[in-house]
Amino acid sequence: QGTLHDLAAAQGRYFGSATDNPELSDAAYAATLGSEFGQITPGNSMKWDTTEPSQGRFDFAKGDVVTGFAQQHGQTVRGHTLVWHSQLPGWVAALPTARVRAAMTDHITEEATHYRGAVAAWDVVNEPFNEDGTFRTSPFYTAMGSGYIATALRAAHAADPDTKLYLNDYNTEGLGAKSDAMYALASELIDEGVPLDGVGMQAHLAVQYGFPYKMRENMQRFADLGLDVAVTELDVRMRLPADAAKAATQSSYYQQVVEACLAVGRCVGITVWDYTDKYSWVPGTFPGEGAAGLYDENLAPKPAYDAVRAAL
Ligand code: XIL
Repeated sequence: QGTLHDLAAAQGRYFGSATDNPELSDAAYAATLGSEFGQITPGNSMKWDTTEPSQGRFDFAKGDVVTGFAQQHGQTVRGHTLVWHSQLPGWVAALPTARVRAAMTDHITEEATHYRGAVAAWDVVNEPFNEDGTFRTSPFYTAMGSGYIATALRAAHAADPDTKLYLNDYNTEGLGAKSDAMYALASELIDEGVPLDGVGMQAHLAVQYGFPYKMRENMQRFADLGLDVAVTELDVRMRLPADAAKAATQSSYYQQVVEACLAVGRCVGITVWDYTDKYSWVPGTFPGEGAAGLYDENLAPKPAYDAVRAAL
């Protein structure tokens, strides 16, 4: 028996969930979050628009609630995220390009210093790539080119030398143009001696899009660079209404992700992007889609939960 995290921990992995501050007041939700999962990631409360809403004014109150919950429940925390084009306050995009570098390194320094000892790993840079493997435009890319990534990693390392530093992206789970770009970037950063510990694969999967192509092989090539690999935001959405066939495909995708991770020695763990359909981001972001989690809207485990258990 045991929890999902117990089963993962018996194999040297963690099993975690995203969470968000408003949900923590739901006692039934918080009870399962605190018992079934060994790791949590704040869904929003460590993002730039929350932690530095105006330049130099830092607010870690919401993130501190999440790290406090983790400490009370013996969980590790993944910090998410220091540098991202989205949920970025308007003042960053409004800066003259010559001021962006210092704003970025100041932000990283303040936040990573604040969470020293409380955050075991950081998504230092989130979603750096377009689907075709070119670098995504952002205030950081515009100001510094792709070198902003090495600068960000170095600043994070200086602020907290003990946390694990990651690059994180979606649609990089399988082999393809976007994961090739992440692989090339990671190889280059390692060659240059830039501090990088791992690569996060978000794994926002969808029943209607198929399972990522050769996920295990893709994870293994990053592991072979000497990097850790983490599945950071797993969910498997579907077009609504759900039915038995979609649920079966969903269960199979969850199971295949667990199998891929367990087959790669450097895959350190799996985080679901919130464990329940009650608080999933999917319906709000993908109209007409949902039912993406391991637990339903009433916090009851779904067949996908049993599939994960069976695979662990
Ligand atoms: C999502 C949150 O879950 C939502 O609450 C928010 O409105 C938008 O962001 N990739 C990421 C996460 O890296 O930060 C996103 O989280 C989901 C996609």
